[in-house]
Amino acid sequence: MSALFESLTLRDLTIPNRVWMAPMCQYCAAVEGPDQGVPTDWHLSHLGARAVGGAGLIITEATAVVPEGRISPADLGIWNDRQQEGFARITAFLKEYGAVPGIQLAHAGRKASTDRTWRGGAPVGPDRHGWQPVAPSPVPFTDGYPVPDELGVEEIHRLVEAFGAAARRALAAGFQVAEVHGAHGYLINEFLSPHANRRTDAYGGSYENRTRFALEVVDAVRAVWPEELPVFFRISATDWLTENPEDGREGWTSDDTVRFAKDLLAHGVDLLDTSTGGVAAGARIPAAPGYQIPFAARVKEETDLPVGAVGLITEPRQAEEIVASGQADAVLLGRELLRNPYWPNLAARELGAGGRWPDQYHRAV
Ligand SMILES: Cc1cc2nc3c(=O)[nH]c(=O)nc-3n(C[C@H](O)[C@H](O)[C@H](O)COP(=O)(O)O)c2cc1C
Repeated sequence: MSALFESLTLRDLTIPNRVWMAPMCQYCAAVEGPDQGVPTDWHLSHLGARAVGGAGLIITEATAVVPEGRISPADLGIWNDRQQEGFARITAFLKEYGAVPGIQLAHAGRKASTDRTWRGGAPVGPDRHGWQPVAPSPVPFTDGYPVPDELGVEEIHRLVEAFGAAARRALAAGFQVAEVHGAHGYLINEFLSPHANRRTDAYGGSYENRTRFALEVVDAVRAVWPEELPVFFRISATDWLTENPEDGREGWTSDDTVRFAKDLLAHGVDLLDTSTGGVAAGARIPAAPGYQIPFAARVKEETDLPVGAVGLITEPRQAEEIVASGQADAVLLGRELLRNPYWPNLAARELGAGGRWPDQYHRAV
């Protein structure tokens, strides 16, 4: 029996296996006009191919809850009816081919308004469909980035409401998992990390204050997400600052993550999608196969919150071992699934677990 291809039930939702597609920006929605932020045929075929390929859960790219929350002007959004309808077509297709549709709800904070990555990913201004970014503190991400506007408390409250409204739309569009994007140096991560959050009010300073915005967002999403469906949180389990003595800068640590995982569990989160980094430019990240797995494994070991492991997981037996050994409840694949949408079905064959080939392809099985 393969542990990787056992189903996983969270609340009342059964996900058919533990090979999931990680959220990945595609930077190809319309940047303006009525189709701004609306999923296109690209998104349907890109996400649809991974459902056909056998992924158990497919999480959309970072999907902005307000226009200013997009990472690039070409990102997807979920703040209006047209975007919601565009997603409904995709969730129906994913379900038809046996995958659970999940959406990553996001705000890019001080790393918003940047170019497509294949054009270098540098900040873009209003002349190129960009805008002035906002953040917990008026501290730019790094050289060449604009100084973001510091969010006022009223604006923070409106953003919490925007996450709730986006979750309501996501549910109406047919999604069954809502993932709050709290990682990679975007807005929620900026509040969590002392590296980016220099506030002295109720949203900055102590651990309780820095986690306040994230937990308010989780509460707003949980308030509209049905009891029977799971909410995930994607975290950067470390900023790779404090834990790297040579760096000298202070950041969020894996100790913070363990503590925060317990808070998230108490606030109704069902799984921690455990990534790292992104908040501090120049942090030294020891990327190597499976390098983020120990962070997931530690949360699994020290809390009751289920976890997903992500990052340079590329081999079926590596993925099987992560789940079978109890280091994580599921694995999320990013780039490997870009290279090969059929990875889950081929891994299932290698691990003697069958797979989920569509009838149309039966002659190839
Ligand atoms: C093209 C691309 C786009 C990405 N976009 C997102 C995103 O929207 N949200 C997110 O949380 N992570 C994003 N990531 C990170 C992936 O979800 C994943 O964590 C990372 O690629 C490591 O996994 P891998 O080694 O399997 O690719 C992106 C990665 C890639 C390669």
